Amino acid sequence: MDNIDQYAVVGNPISHSRSPLIHQMFAQQCGEQLDYVAKLVALDSFSADIRQFFADHGRGLNVTVPFKQQAWDIADQLSDSATLAGAVNTLWLKNGAIRGDNTDGVGLVRDLIANNGYQLAGKKILILGAGGAVRGVLQPIIAQQPLSITIANRTLSKARQLAAIFADIYTLECCKYEQLESPYDLIINGTSASLNNELPPLPDVVVSADSYLYDMMYGERPTVFNQWGKNLGAKNCIDGLGMLVEQAAESFRLWRGVKPDTAPVIARLRKQL
Ligand code: ATR
Repeated sequence: MDNIDQYAVVGNPISHSRSPLIHQMFAQQCGEQLDYVAKLVALDSFSADIRQFFADHGRGLNVTVPFKQQAWDIADQLSDSATLAGAVNTLWLKNGAIRGDNTDGVGLVRDLIANNGYQLAGKKILILGAGGAVRGVLQPIIAQQPLSITIANRTLSKARQLAAIFADIYTLECCKYEQLESPYDLIINGTSASLNNELPPLPDVVVSADSYLYDMMYGERPTVFNQWGKNLGAKNCIDGLGMLVEQAAESFRLWRGVKPDTAPVIARLRKQL
């Protein structure tokens, strides 16, 4: 077993992670020999554990809550997207250096374009939230050249901080929820409100019959945000399950050089929700 390439997802907690199942399905599909497990890492030993994993010839890691920023710190080399994201979800060794990337934004964009046939180019986009989840996905969204991106957040100062970070590559508009007063083509929920079955205080006017809604969260039932969009007659309301599988596929591609077919994996996970 020792010569099988070792991969893992690290986090705390980690038992709920679907990444081992996803990557095992990818490996089987692509005929790649590898082992992928979930590892619980103690809150105070991330750096030591990660260095030990690579010293023991581990090939690659996915990183999840609450370690994505520490993973950013540990990486010797970062992609441009990860540099701006301030967080890393994929680590691997290349020529003795730890490389870090963030595949969340690519995952979201691919889910919209490839799985849902929705182009972001030229679109008027509203993004809800200004925390780590939103910062992590902005660069790949910007790269699609939308018409505009508005960041709405309860705490306006946090939206403005985000705008300052991305100012060199794009002008993000910032506002509070109650200042929104026109419809958007695409509304992405990047707040953690859905976790508590809460909805940001959005005026209904942001949704038109042509609007697409995208919740980065997912669950057995439609999220509060997607249900709200459906009730208002939005054209399509998509949850984050496809993003989860697509970000994993991009990690797999970075590690193994092959891109798995995500459709059967998304379908299987959807059945298991
Ligand atoms: P994450 O890493 O998930 O992005 P975070 O950095 O704590 O977590 O950010 C959480 C985001 O969800 C923030 O934008 C937060 O708004 P504030 O910056 O105003 O706190 C937003 N959020 C969380 N619960 C919310 C709620 N019930 N309504 C609206 N926004 C909410």
